[in-house]
Amino acid sequence: MGYIKPIGESDNLRPRKRGAAMIRSMFFWVEPELGPLELVESTRSFDCSTAPIPFLHSLSRELIAIFQIVSPFLGFSFSSTIQSSEWLCVYPLFFTLGGCGACVVLLSKYDPATDEVTDFSASSCLTLLGSINYCSVTTTEGLGNAKDGYHSIQKRIAGFHASQCGFCTPGMCMSLFSSLVNADKDASRPEPPKGFSKITVSEAEKAIVGNLCRCTGYRPLVDACKSFAADVDLEDLGLNTFWKKGNKDDSARNLPNYSTGDVCTFPEFLKSEVKSSVSTSHSHKPETIEYGWYRPKSIEHLHILLNSESFSTGNVKLVVGNTSSGVYKDQDLYDKYIDLRGIPELSIIKRTNDGVEFGSGVTISRAIEVLREEKVSTLVLKKIADHLNKVASPFVRNIASVGGNLMLAQRKQFESDIATILLAAGSKISVLEGLERVTLTLEEFLDRPPCADRTILMSIFFPSWASYNNILFETYRASPRPLGNAVSYVNSAFLAQTLIDEETGDVVVENIQLAFGAFGMEHAIRARKVEDFLKGKIVTSSVILEAIRFLKEGIVPKNSTSHAEYRVSLAVGFLFKFLSPLAKGLSEPGKIVHVELKNGQSHMESKNSDDIPIASRQEILLNSEYSPVGEPIKKAGAELQASGEAVYVDDIPTPKDCLHGAFIYSSKPLAYVKEINFKSSMASTKVISLITAKDIPKGGENVGFAWYFGAEPIFADSLAEYAGQPLGLVIAETQKYANLAAKQAVIEYSTDNLEPPILSVEDAIERNSFFQIPPMFYPKQIGDFSKGMAEADKKIESGEVKLASQYYFYMEPQTVLAVPDEDNCMTVYAASQWPEGAQAHVAKALGIPFHNVRVITRRAGGSFGAKAFRAMPVITACAVAAHKLRRPVKVYLDRQTDMVMIGGRHPTKANYTVGFKSDGKITSLHLDLRLNAGISEDVCKTNNTSKSAMRAPGDVQGSFIAEAIVEHVASVLSLDTNAVRRKNLHDHESLKVFFQESAGEASTYTLPTLFDRLASTPSYEARAKMVKHFNFENKWKKRGISCVPITYKVRTKQSPGKVSVLNDGSIVVEVGGIEIGQGLWTKVKQMAAFGLKELAEGSEDLLEKVRVVQADSLSLIQGGTTGGSTTSESSCAAVQLACNTLVERLKPLKDKMKEEKGVVPWAALIGQASAQGVNLSASSLYVPEPSTFRYINYGAAISEVEIDLLTGATTILRSDLAYDCGKSLNPAVDLGQVEGGFIHGVGFFLYEEFLTNSDGLTVSDSTWNYKIPTVDTIPKEFNVEFLNSPHNTNRVLSSKASGEPPLLLASAVHCALREAIRAARTDFASYVGSKGSPLTFQMDVPTTMPMVKELCGLDIVEKYLKSLA
Ligand SMILES: Cc1cc2nc3c(=O)[nH]c(=O)nc-3n(C[C@H](O)[C@H](O)[C@H](O)COP(=O)(O)OP(=O)(O)OC[C@H]3O[C@@H](n4cnc5c(N)ncnc54)[C@H](O)[C@@H]3O)c2cc1C
Ligand code: FES
Repeated sequence: MGYIKPIGESDNLRPRKRGAAMIRSMFFWVEPELGPLELVESTRSFDCSTAPIPFLHSLSRELIAIFQIVSPFLGFSFSSTIQSSEWLCVYPLFFTLGGCGACVVLLSKYDPATDEVTDFSASSCLTLLGSINYCSVTTTEGLGNAKDGYHSIQKRIAGFHASQCGFCTPGMCMSLFSSLVNADKDASRPEPPKGFSKITVSEAEKAIVGNLCRCTGYRPLVDACKSFAADVDLEDLGLNTFWKKGNKDDSARNLPNYSTGDVCTFPEFLKSEVKSSVSTSHSHKPETIEYGWYRPKSIEHLHILLNSESFSTGNVKLVVGNTSSGVYKDQDLYDKYIDLRGIPELSIIKRTNDGVEFGSGVTISRAIEVLREEKVSTLVLKKIADHLNKVASPFVRNIASVGGNLMLAQRKQFESDIATILLAAGSKISVLEGLERVTLTLEEFLDRPPCADRTILMSIFFPSWASYNNILFETYRASPRPLGNAVSYVNSAFLAQTLIDEETGDVVVENIQLAFGAFGMEHAIRARKVEDFLKGKIVTSSVILEAIRFLKEGIVPKNSTSHAEYRVSLAVGFLFKFLSPLAKGLSEPGKIVHVELKNGQSHMESKNSDDIPIASRQEILLNSEYSPVGEPIKKAGAELQASGEAVYVDDIPTPKDCLHGAFIYSSKPLAYVKEINFKSSMASTKVISLITAKDIPKGGENVGFAWYFGAEPIFADSLAEYAGQPLGLVIAETQKYANLAAKQAVIEYSTDNLEPPILSVEDAIERNSFFQIPPMFYPKQIGDFSKGMAEADKKIESGEVKLASQYYFYMEPQTVLAVPDEDNCMTVYAASQWPEGAQAHVAKALGIPFHNVRVITRRAGGSFGAKAFRAMPVITACAVAAHKLRRPVKVYLDRQTDMVMIGGRHPTKANYTVGFKSDGKITSLHLDLRLNAGISEDVCKTNNTSKSAMRAPGDVQGSFIAEAIVEHVASVLSLDTNAVRRKNLHDHESLKVFFQESAGEASTYTLPTLFDRLASTPSYEARAKMVKHFNFENKWKKRGISCVPITYKVRTKQSPGKVSVLNDGSIVVEVGGIEIGQGLWTKVKQMAAFGLKELAEGSEDLLEKVRVVQADSLSLIQGGTTGGSTTSESSCAAVQLACNTLVERLKPLKDKMKEEKGVVPWAALIGQASAQGVNLSASSLYVPEPSTFRYINYGAAISEVEIDLLTGATTILRSDLAYDCGKSLNPAVDLGQVEGGFIHGVGFFLYEEFLTNSDGLTVSDSTWNYKIPTVDTIPKEFNVEFLNSPHNTNRVLSSKASGEPPLLLASAVHCALREAIRAARTDFASYVGSKGSPLTFQMDVPTTMPMVKELCGLDIVEKYLKSLA
């Protein structure tokens, strides 16, 4: 038995349930052999021996990270009985497993020998409880919180408007904190100015490199990070609440002060604990905690353990960092863990002249540090360190070991970077097989069959090549993101020793080592044939060409490898890049001639675009007319989000007896479900119940979602109609058991007498599988197509463009907690955009009246459309389970289930016929659009998951298709695309033809102004020229620039509001809209303060008195759906109405009091009104005017991109967005929506591949294989300006929407990319040959790296070299 003791002052361990912010910091030690397993803290202690089994399991057997409880998603409760098992039974609910960074915390370790504390960030979802023995854990609440005051990181994140839904924010704070702490510890760095850190701007930019944020677009986060840097120019930072642009003095003065060491990460008393533990430790035998955690202190101890009887059975895992669970997603429980980090031999670092030997347990981060030490570093070691710095993310590298990585490569064919680079460097490793220690080359090690379970990798030798002359060493990797958590398509490293022929100056290869990995073979390999061929040769173009021929014989990906040809072409490109500088007269891909405009002159220099720092400019318009509406005030609750105190559904204290559910879904597209069983493993024995269609109560309906067009069941009832369809909900004591058991379900299917499933739009058309769409939704023909065609000078008869699906990727997956209440009632806490809908669906499913169901939503951690309709089946299933079991049930979808079940954006295929004049004016267009709607009613019916509205649904596809057609027309005519675009912009008359009354007044039609402001300027022309110049100068990188206009029609909806003034003068507001990150609460707060302003004295600020509270479907009815970009303004309008009522009631009293007293303070007015029985609460329902409820939003964007022709990588060099959001209700909030929407769109157009297998089952089901943009993929320069648009009385205080339309602006990136690819194809036209025209080609969405490369030509290197022959 053992103890797990959180120790410290009781204040440090706060006994209440919450996520990251729950505990300011915790200190743990795990003590062996001390009696019953017990959790101790200063106020309470639990004897876990009396706890239910799951608790014991969770605590002792699985030893799942105890400090996960401090992650934002995994709460715990000390307050109730041992149902607090949940807090120890914590599990990476997200299953993002190191891929998102939202659960990052700071771990600190103390070394009593050196009296030093090491602080590092770590992903809590990957870290096991036992591994933090004697560590201290600091969470974001440990930095600062509402009670004790916020930390400068939290204040600056809030002040730079860098949180929206706030779900990622605690992790962002901790990643930044870790970077600051470590920079400040570095004594070799100069002291920073007061209030700043020693970190540099360039380091600060990378502090959050592996952390995902779906909302903000990262730019404001980057500014918040940079604000700490010693070398920052505060004037370069973006919009914030601390100073006004241009006011340099204010900037430094008002920035919340940062001082090193203001948070103690490892307190003195804990150091004493560690010291005393060292003196009392039993070094003579392995440190063991019965029930599962073993930490041998030497190899001998390890042997004793491995040879002991208890290890002959069960599931045992040897671990160092345990990050492999992020790669291979452990699907079952382990009985025992052996922590190798206690073995000193595995932590050695031996520096010699020949290189460095690392014990296999040394972390990647530590290895980087050592390799960069001046006394050690050589070219080879430095380049290895640089490459290691691109592996995973800082919070993974800090715990992941070099040895663990190589073991994964050896045993599991993992696409390791480290194996490849060390292979080229000629590393040796030392392994222990039984008692025998063997030294092998890395190549020999990798070539062996997978190592036996008990083979131990002892150390790895990194050769320095210090004693060799003329050594060249380079490493390469091509991955969807340059830095942030993405494994490579191919990695490679090359080491060469060369001689210069003194007479000719030719370079001769004396020796060479070429390693390639991740291309679809068992492991990284040396290209021996190529090496042999090159040895002794003078490098020339023909020699390189021949080397490539040999290379292609050896680089043969396995059959199942995705993008196989692309990977081969990458390998070729890398070899060419390495060898070309050695040959004479070759155009070298490594040398980029950078062309810039400086002082009106073109300026050229050689630099890598990846190294350009991120810059930005925001031009917003402040409007004080309706103050505080119109002011860029910071988001309501931003600090709460940063400190992790903001409560999401999973943070709500788990009620007594709460159970947890996980979905079992079909993996077949159309099949009868005959039986569901569970594998007999530990996880599946924990199943308490399986809820299926049979459990729908009498009187209830098996309807998970119903809409105009039809209904979708909660659970398939014997027939599964698509892969991903819920079949049942596994109920267990903990979420972990439920999740694991659901993954272990064995489902027996039968397809007897069933037609084959319909899995594509093409199938659907062929088999006539369409939903019946009501006529009101039919598209209307405008004008006369034949007449337009007759007028055309030219025609394109059959163009095609395809857009794939996109997953929502909100950071908070679908979550719901259903709590049965008295009298057959149900309270449901749901992360929902549609509580009113959830109420109706739950009531119908349970067969109870609506008033028996209360749905409460405080906020959602992002939603993007999926927490409206697609949340309904999850919410109803949870309620059915709670109803049946008469116990609270929580369902928190793991990321994989969320991705598989919830669906995404509609994949769309468009075929078009277009007629146009020679000047580019389009005269006629016929468009056939095919949308794969999946199983739910919507256009083409297929056996796929239901597709649903996702941020800018339909509009983003439509807008892009229009741009693709314009581009096609321009390319046919060989005209400038922007000129054709400008020619086809609507004037107000044509706008009215297409949009009727939504077109509004002519004065509100701002699109031409926006477009001209960006594209019809000398600066744009100059940039376009620069791009041409760049393309002329550079062969292997090409640039493109493009400007797109957008229109986006929205409709305002009816919306309720309620404003109540309490006796102390504080104000509480309820609205129908839900805060999903879009800043609705902030705007509503501003509106309430504005609406009641007339009642306050001039100097009084009501803003701080307003609190917006959660939506409650029984308190405020008719809440409707939050969506369509207009809920903020509708909610504001409702609040304004309610305020008007209060003003009407209170104004007479105020006037009277004023007459009597002169000044009427707010508090006095409210006190008097209350005493006189004035009703201080007013409700309203805003119903928009039917004639003006629809309107159009306008914007335009220029993007400039650069592509790497050898890899297909796209760098967005600059994006300039101009947007008309009317008289913005809050420019900071709208700016966030514009930037965030744009980056969301960049993900859609460039990165996010939402793939399915041949059964239609989603296979892009984790952060591992689905890549949303990260900070390293945003534009290097990101500028936004708002148009000063006129007053518009039809709108709410003349404001316009900002939530969805800006997403469309990202098509500018796609269009610029097309220009760059055109430049490449034109340049290489003579080699590319007859395969398509250089200018006209289909470029579907998303245009990922492989697609870019393919469009540029997979074999351009060979063709180029041949052309030189
Ligand atoms: C989000 C994420 C992104 C990543 N990105 C990259 C990337 O871009 N490039 C890349 O190369 N890698 C990447 N990785 C892989 C990462 O480098 C490895 O997971 C890590 O190095 C493994 O080290 P560990 O200490 O966590 O190993 P563990 O998970 O503890 O162990 C891994 C395996 O090796 C065994 N093992 C460990 N040490 C020994 C030993 N000394 N002797 C015998 N067996 C041992 C364990 O039993 C286990 O089976 C990524 C991982 C994650 C989670
Ligand atoms: S604010 Fe980052 S995910 Fe929402």
